[in-house]
Amino acid sequence: MIATSRRRFLAGAAAVTAAGFVPTRFAIGNQAPVKVGLMLPYTGVYAQLGENITSGLTMSLVGHGNRLGGRPIEYVKVDDESNPAKGVDNATKLVKGKEVDFVVGTVHSGVAMAMTKVMAKSPKAIMLCPNAGANALTREACLPNVFRTSFSNWQTGYSMGPVIAQRGHKRVVTLTWNYAAGQEMVSAFLDGFKAAGGGEPAEQLWVDFPDSEFQPVLTRIAALKPDAVFAFFSGSAAVKFLKDYDAAIDRTQIPLYGTGFLTEGVLAAVGKAAEGIVTTMHWAETLKSSENILFMGDFRKVAGRVADVFAVQGWDTGTLLYRAMDAVKGDTGATQAIIKAMEDAEVTGPRGVWRMSRNHNPIQDFYLRRVEKGQNLVEGVAVAQLEDPGTGCKM
Ligand code: BEZ
Repeated sequence: MIATSRRRFLAGAAAVTAAGFVPTRFAIGNQAPVKVGLMLPYTGVYAQLGENITSGLTMSLVGHGNRLGGRPIEYVKVDDESNPAKGVDNATKLVKGKEVDFVVGTVHSGVAMAMTKVMAKSPKAIMLCPNAGANALTREACLPNVFRTSFSNWQTGYSMGPVIAQRGHKRVVTLTWNYAAGQEMVSAFLDGFKAAGGGEPAEQLWVDFPDSEFQPVLTRIAALKPDAVFAFFSGSAAVKFLKDYDAAIDRTQIPLYGTGFLTEGVLAAVGKAAEGIVTTMHWAETLKSSENILFMGDFRKVAGRVADVFAVQGWDTGTLLYRAMDAVKGDTGATQAIIKAMEDAEVTGPRGVWRMSRNHNPIQDFYLRRVEKGQNLVEGVAVAQLEDPGTGCKM
């Protein structure tokens, strides 16, 4: 039964203690809903990512009585269209217009950075970033009221560097969308690659976001004949990219590697064209922990589809929310105590054990994975408890 397994799961998770916390401005028994803004992509190339984050988050909160600190929850949804130009307006609508207590967003690095401009002027609202990896979010632009439950782009790229170097690949081509996420993942990959004895990239290839016309770059790769390719694409474009790569390139000669987003949520649609691809990621559907097995089963029952890393990030965002709100007994005005509870979080969940770094970004394992029979199989831990350096964060 879903309810039973979820109760077991929740009981197994460490609780935040509210020792010493005394609600002041908040009348005990207040039943006004806690307002949670969801600023996510519900259309476009990242639509499925936004949907799965939403399903993971709501499933987590339903499993916790669908209340935050004893109060009901009101969701306010905005489709951010993965459009950075609309980021400030959309976040303002939620934070100032709808006066949400929490804003959960978003997927696209550029949109997340726009959101932080609004959060800097709204210190009482708290932002939980359930995906976007923009390094600056938890480095130079870090804020006390902004937390990330996913990863930094640096973490995802860096973890693949030693893997490709240790496999003896020397001439490596990088290929990604030309915006912050792709740029930062490639730069971090090259840092990790060089640190592990690899050299300069044979060539760096770029595609404009959110385009999915890959023939010109694939023709270039075929001409360059590198030892390997490192790539980042995600969402519906990853499906097309993996099929196009398989059709255009002999993968036994030029193997494809990437950040795990390449093979997240797309394997059923891609089929054989994804077999054998090696990635690194902070989760895999095949992790054997009881937390992950329960999560996978519950998500399938509740959402009617196979979970992916985006669903996990939504779930863990829910975990952070209900723990912090339990700690303050539902007092959304107790901003400092909410922040403290989130900073102290150590979560045992589907991805394993992770905790918040000083700069509000998860410290977590990055797994080495290989696609086999339509699943990301775990081959080991590529980098254990990897922490983003947090350079420039002054909090
Ligand atoms: C980003 O823009 O940060 C991002 C988008 C999709 C997957 C991973 C990262």
